[in-house]
Amino acid sequence: FSCGIVIVAAGRGERAGSLRDGPKQYRPIGGRPVITHTLDAFATWPMEKRIVVAIHPDDEALFDHARSLVSGDTSVITFAHGGATRQLSVLAGLKALEKSGVTHVLIHDAVRPFIDHALLDRCFSALMEGADAVLPAVAVADTLKRGSADGIVVETVPRTGLFAAQTPQCFRFPPILEAHENAAASGRSDFTDDAAIAEWAGLPVSLIAGSADNVKLTIKRDIAMADEKLNRTTL
Ligand code: C5P
Repeated sequence: FSCGIVIVAAGRGERAGSLRDGPKQYRPIGGRPVITHTLDAFATWPMEKRIVVAIHPDDEALFDHARSLVSGDTSVITFAHGGATRQLSVLAGLKALEKSGVTHVLIHDAVRPFIDHALLDRCFSALMEGADAVLPAVAVADTLKRGSADGIVVETVPRTGLFAAQTPQCFRFPPILEAHENAAASGRSDFTDDAAIAEWAGLPVSLIAGSADNVKLTIKRDIAMADEKLNRTTL
């Protein structure tokens, strides 16, 4: 088992109002950039690994600074330039790992800084059991409605068997690289997660328990709440 980790951080984060304040993955929470917390979790995970972060070409200085604040071993962390969509950023990260001989890869959103070692250990165990693709997810708690474009409820969608997908999504390296290359070659660039590419390629995807804390920071309010949470726990 040799483990590659791709962390995607090349988004502009428009939904968090980034044009004024810079991309959300570099905003401070608890005094350090979001991505520093994310990298810390992986860098301190006691497993031999290589970490490639897909970043936007304009963000090299922001990234260098964020990496310099990581408390684990930063020598295993390198970067590649991401692409125009999340899918293409993942592909850039996978290509950067291709020659390294890793057997497995964990693909994670930079904007999920509350990833913990217990979840990483569950990912590792599922891969060790031989899974091609592993998806951490949590059962949907809210009642779900389908709405029409003009704001009328069309139906209630039964939530039995529905899950919200998280990251890190974990794969045997050769089949996910091949699936990504085939997806890009066939003109697709809009898959919003890697499990969807595995499904598209016909790989079985195993569900494992995600973590309620492992939230994705998407809008400005998410960043403010994450900052409050960290300041509360460090006081
Ligand atoms: O935009 P979204 O919230 O789906 O982004 C999820 C993750 O994918 C973020 O960490 C973001 O930086 C990353 N991303 C990327 N390249 C893009 C778009 C998003 O690496 N072109």
